[in-house]
Amino acid sequence: MEVMKVLHMNGGVGETSYADNSSVQLEMLSMTRPILEEAITGLYLSISPWPSTLTIADLGCSSGPTAFFAVSEVIGAVENLCRKMGHNEPPEYQFYLNDLPGNDFNALFRALPKMQEEEARCFFTGVAGSFYGRLFPCKSLHFVHSSLALQWLSQVPRMIECNKGNIYMASSSPKSVMDAYYRQFQNDFSVFLKCRAMELVPGGCMVLTFVGRRSEDRSSSECCSIWELLAMALNEMVSESVPSETVLIRIMKGT
Ligand SMILES: C[S@@+](CC[C@H](N)C(=O)[O-])C[C@H]1O[C@@H](n2cnc3c(N)ncnc32)[C@H](O)[C@@H]1O
Repeated sequence: MEVMKVLHMNGGVGETSYADNSSVQLEMLSMTRPILEEAITGLYLSISPWPSTLTIADLGCSSGPTAFFAVSEVIGAVENLCRKMGHNEPPEYQFYLNDLPGNDFNALFRALPKMQEEEARCFFTGVAGSFYGRLFPCKSLHFVHSSLALQWLSQVPRMIECNKGNIYMASSSPKSVMDAYYRQFQNDFSVFLKCRAMELVPGGCMVLTFVGRRSEDRSSSECCSIWELLAMALNEMVSESVPSETVLIRIMKGT
């Protein structure tokens, strides 16, 4: 089982959908507004002449209202800046909305007409594929945005010791498992940066928002507790033989 082929947020707009359960993510987007504004000002100062069409990619956009909220935040930042700089005519926008192929792009595009009514100068294209690879032609993007997506690794790390009973780094994980996660993140993030360095125009920029932790402890509850709770629930199900331990080990290994 390849993570990139199966990973997706819950689609649709129902009670258990990502769309209906992403208020924390919306709040995170609002919190990063000052950083976004600073980045857009930096972009304006480093790109000359200011293009009539800005090309922008949102990587790991998912299928909820957060995708369009991110779009409006970027537009808001650009239009504020244009007003300040005395540009009467704001640019047009080409937005590339990217996620993995399993993402519910249908739900996303069903919400498009409403967005286009409000933002007539915007054009949208869906891009299915992993951001741990090339997604766009060389020097084709002015701005890359990604919120709360880069914590997803490209694969479950290869481990030399078993991470028994866990599905992520946990307080009971051996050091070799912690190191394997660290190496996987380093590899993945290097690939991500190399790809974006090719795709951005000179002077282009990115705003990337991650889940992080303040503690030195890699299994700190700041970032791992939710996965420990999920592992506890799965282990309990294993003790009742749904699923079997073999299936749980396959889940942990991503096979
Ligand atoms: C927690 S959601 C965040 C979605 C949205 N950006 C937000 O702020 O609500 C993370 C998204 O990243 C996507 N994702 C994870 N790994 C990815 C990859 N390698 N390439 C593209 N998208 C990926 C997931 O499918 C998911 O939709």
